[in-house]
Amino acid sequence: MLGHITDPSTPHGLVRRELPEPEPGDHDVVVGVGAYAVNRGELNLLADRADGWTPGQDVAGVVVRAAADGTGPAEGTRVVGGADQGAWSERVAVPTHRVAAIPDDVSFAQAASLPVAGLTALRALRVGGSLLGRRVLVTGASGGVGSFAVQLAAAAGARVTALVSGPHRVAEVEALGAAEVVTAVDEQTGPFDVALDGVGGGVLTDVVHRLAPGGTVVAYGVAGGEPESELAFFDFGSAPLARLVGFFVYATGEETFGDDLAVLAEMISAGRLDPKLGVVRDWAETVEAVDALRQRQATGKVVLTVS
Ligand SMILES: NC(=O)c1ccc[n+]([C@@H]2O[C@H](COP(=O)([O-])OP(=O)(O)OC[C@H]3O[C@@H](n4cnc5c(N)ncnc54)[C@H](OP(=O)(O)O)[C@@H]3O)[C@@H](O)[C@H]2O)c1
Repeated sequence: MLGHITDPSTPHGLVRRELPEPEPGDHDVVVGVGAYAVNRGELNLLADRADGWTPGQDVAGVVVRAAADGTGPAEGTRVVGGADQGAWSERVAVPTHRVAAIPDDVSFAQAASLPVAGLTALRALRVGGSLLGRRVLVTGASGGVGSFAVQLAAAAGARVTALVSGPHRVAEVEALGAAEVVTAVDEQTGPFDVALDGVGGGVLTDVVHRLAPGGTVVAYGVAGGEPESELAFFDFGSAPLARLVGFFVYATGEETFGDDLAVLAEMISAGRLDPKLGVVRDWAETVEAVDALRQRQATGKVVLTVS
């Protein structure tokens, strides 16, 4: 089968070529890939695993081989799933607990946007507790995780303030249901009961300064690329008993990823969640799509389709 593999001898360090078929464990289905998404975290992995690594976590497609242990969907089922690696290929093995069937009216491109970004947004918001009537701040709001978080928080009844990198992102994020879109977190914004931060650095410090007493900031990423925030005791001076939570989606119970993927896919089908697909290209253009993400040209998710 064809698939992508890192190879430092090639011009982009990533090449599509003939690869061995996946070797599923007893608990894995094999998915015939219809679409996959690229995550910012994978950009670092491409550099760290530059020789002989097969990238790809987020995948949607059709089950072409059911799991030997009898768990998970039958052959022919349209699914979304989160693989360990190898999803930028024609076929990939995925553990059945990280797979969900998708409704017929959800496209492979929409579904492929869900695993890492959608699960991170959903589960990071859950850390903040009930969102009904609460003031929620989402940073990096035009990004993969952020664009899901804005919509999910609004759907849960929160009043959402969205931070974007500049005026060119405002209209797109307003359309996601944010009550307010800002380009800086300052004295004019907040205070917030819950904040999700995927930017890090000085933005994380600004967010802590605008928390309400007892508020929660869930820090899940450093997309801003700045050095880490140098937070100290007095940064919490206006928000006594506030808490800062370091969030890692794989530490939140991956055995139920499939259940939550089903929830998100149903929300798309019901018109309550609209995956922001910033770049959708044929998978022959994976190198260019990866570059678009690296250059911060995309809003929302970067998705490749496999025909
Ligand atoms: N902990 C976990 O389990 C977990 C899970 C998923 C992702 N992550 C991490 O979370 C981060 C975000 O992931 P993602 O997939 O959402 O990335 P993404 O799609 O690239 O989105 C990043 C967002 O941050 C914005 N941004 C960057 N610098 C900014 C700044 N200085 N001020 C305001 N906004 C800024 C970008 O805006 P522009 O495009 O306009 O520049 C974009 O909207 C990454 O660091 C990723 O590795 C962690």
